[in-house]
Amino acid sequence: MSKTPEVAAIILAAGKGERMKSSLPKVLHKICGRPMVMYVFDLIDSLKIKKNVLVLGYKSEEVKKIVPGGIKTVLQETLSGTADAVKKAVPVLKGFKGTVIILYGDNPLLQKETLDKLIKHHHDTRAAVTLLTAKLKKPFGYGRIIRDKYSSVCGIVEEKDANDYQRDIKEINTGVMCFDAEKLFNSLRLVKPNNKKKEYYLTDCVEILYSRGEIVEGLEISDPQEAFGINTRVELAQGYTIIQSRVLEKYMKDGITIVDPRTTFINFGTEIGQDTIIYPFTVIENDVKIGSSCSVGPFCHLREGTRLSDEVKVGNFIEIVRSSLSPHTRAKHVGYIGDTVIGSNVNIGAGTITANYNGKDKNTTIIDDNAFIGSDTVLVAPVKIGKGAKTGAGSVVTKNKNIPAGAVAVGVPARILK
Ligand code: UD1
Ligand code: CA
Repeated sequence: MSKTPEVAAIILAAGKGERMKSSLPKVLHKICGRPMVMYVFDLIDSLKIKKNVLVLGYKSEEVKKIVPGGIKTVLQETLSGTADAVKKAVPVLKGFKGTVIILYGDNPLLQKETLDKLIKHHHDTRAAVTLLTAKLKKPFGYGRIIRDKYSSVCGIVEEKDANDYQRDIKEINTGVMCFDAEKLFNSLRLVKPNNKKKEYYLTDCVEILYSRGEIVEGLEISDPQEAFGINTRVELAQGYTIIQSRVLEKYMKDGITIVDPRTTFINFGTEIGQDTIIYPFTVIENDVKIGSSCSVGPFCHLREGTRLSDEVKVGNFIEIVRSSLSPHTRAKHVGYIGDTVIGSNVNIGAGTITANYNGKDKNTTIIDDNAFIGSDTVLVAPVKIGKGAKTGAGSVVTKNKNIPAGAVAVGVPARILK
């Protein structure tokens, strides 16, 4: 048995994404709170691929900001096609003799297991190139797989260049391909821009290798959904739905109740502890951590910097940002909590507002353990409510008028009852 070849990855992400109609590079458009290309970075990370080259073009400086350390970047100045893009990565892989896997930055739905299978198939068959293909009911827009009379893959034809017969083919090119490195580098030199778009197509390498008698393999993906490429805002939303349901399923497997996944929106990377229940119409953005046995929602909006300790309850129409709530604290109905540090066992009454912004600066509110904030209280920051202190319904605690531990404050502006 010969040694399994080493694998290197080339990720193509130079395109502007014309069809997004956006000034933001396509791969930076977010899905569940993170740029779509990050899901591709996760893939190469999970496959433990060490040599990675990312091809950038449109607004490359912007994209570079989110590229992890282990990935080299190259620049494709003029976007003259996928083969040209791969060519730009070749110098970085000079002398590399293993397998090169090609991934696209706008293909965030692929799963590790699928790529494992593809790489294994490529190595087992000793092919020059192995394509990941998919059968789609609506193959519009994708490159179609052409097979010869022995049903071996012999080429790929792009939608724009396809004839009526070819357009009827349901088997498509997902874009993911494994190449023998040397055969890839050699065939790239032979690609010509003989197509409607006058671009250098990577897909032409397939026909070039086939015509030289090399082994060309196609492996059909078991779940065609994974092949989904994102080119338009409609596809962005469809991709979102798929990734969001994967994210929510993972929580459910980890012991978190999501009452209705169809109406729950949780960004990637949110930490949630076991036995927490998330009720419908909850929106959770980036950088939120939720402890165990909490209750969140319905209709709750948790924004960046929210920290809920264990057994916290936040109910309907509550918005929280840059704030922490310690164990057993409750804010069950209507309110805004911003830039606030709340102790444990605090009751935040219905309609409480922290007025954290004076038009210029954001200021902090501190509410100590066991405090009781009466309904409809406005806390004008910066302000501190002491341990076990109470505010009466409708009180307005003005800035720097700290309420001492155990005191009761009422009225507008709030005065301390003796
Ligand atoms: C490509 C494939 C098509 C496949 C589909 C799968 C080609 C010619 N066609 O078509 O067979 O079915 O993907 O989603 O490869 N890019 C560059 N530089 C360029 C052009 C593109 O880096 O000069 C990058 C893009 O940023 C993108 C990827 O390559 O990440 C694919 O380009 P795109 O224009 O989206 O190709 P498709 O038309 O979708
Ligand atoms: Ca695409």
